[in-house]
Amino acid sequence: MSYSTAVRDIWRHRDLEGARSDFAPLVHYATLAASSHNTQPWIFELGTREIKVRPDFARRCQEVDPDDHHLFVSLGCAVENLAQAARAAGLQAHAHYDSRTESIRVDLERVSAAASDLFLAIPERRCTRARFAKQGLTPGQWVELERVARGFGVDIHVLTARQEIERIVEFVAAGNEAQFSSTPWAREMRHWLRFNDRDALRTGDGLYGRLFGIPSIPAWLGRAMMPVVATAERQNQRDAEQIRSSAGIIVFSSAREGRSFQVEVGRCYERFALRATSLGLSTAFINQPVEVPLLRKKFAAEMGLGSRRPDLVVRIGYGPAVAHSLRRPLDDVIARGAEEMRWKRSA
Ligand SMILES: Cc1cc2nc3c(=O)[nH]c(=O)nc-3n(C[C@H](O)[C@H](O)[C@H](O)COP(=O)(O)O)c2cc1C
Repeated sequence: MSYSTAVRDIWRHRDLEGARSDFAPLVHYATLAASSHNTQPWIFELGTREIKVRPDFARRCQEVDPDDHHLFVSLGCAVENLAQAARAAGLQAHAHYDSRTESIRVDLERVSAAASDLFLAIPERRCTRARFAKQGLTPGQWVELERVARGFGVDIHVLTARQEIERIVEFVAAGNEAQFSSTPWAREMRHWLRFNDRDALRTGDGLYGRLFGIPSIPAWLGRAMMPVVATAERQNQRDAEQIRSSAGIIVFSSAREGRSFQVEVGRCYERFALRATSLGLSTAFINQPVEVPLLRKKFAAEMGLGSRRPDLVVRIGYGPAVAHSLRRPLDDVIARGAEEMRWKRSA
């Protein structure tokens, strides 16, 4: 199968006819959510009236995400897509983080079906790591975006002034310097990079090199060349251009540390990205300032966040249509009830 055939098969709407009793189509939409390094760190346990979204710790990224913050934000992204798809199928989702099982329980209550604009945008959303057209958003667009991006304990700061954006350029550069100088961080990055179509198709996950401006090359060559060609200096230049081309930067922050807040941040981000998509806008993460612990503290102070945690940094604007990344098959992420879980564990 070619990369473009796989994309067409993955990034499409599915029939929700029987989805009130067989939840698999809902999981399809959940898997189209953003996830850190495209690790897709989720397992969906299907019950009769609920779905449990569990972390797959085998997919954690120790170096870029030592406290599993991004992992739980990613689960939140998936839960939001799940909730939007459930409503389109005639199910109202009620999600609660359960600290005992470290999972999110999504109870599904029967209601009338309603497909929101956010739901319709799910197969269109993607991260656009490219230059945007230097064009501002209208006040109406900002209102629409801000309305969906806040949640319980989750707030956003919107930066549009040139001086503020220059400060973001500096923070991202400082993050790149710290990350590129770490050998374990670079090793982890190489592990999740997919250097050509075959490499990406083999795993259905990871960071598709073409989306980062890396030409299609054999994986062994890519891994060998990375330490030489991927430098903080090059990355800084690329990031600075892309950040300066953006209409604005959005900083998501949460009231406190904790898994339930991280899940909520993910839900807020995903709604924000879907709304942006439905408005014809593009988004991309520039999370370096919140990924390096010391820098995160400075960044929180710079943003005047007090004790709040800065969770995500995202840029927005009018971008080109870029390729989608891949997803793993549903069978790899669905566990059908406790029986199967037991069977899988003993296999
Ligand atoms: C919590 C979180 C953190 C992320 N951080 C970054 C980042 O710093 N830089 C980046 O380019 N993409 C980042 N991403 C985007 C993922 O790499 C992206 O969602 C994944 O590759 C799948 O691609 P898609 O969103 O286009 O489907 C992040 C995503 C999440 C959910």
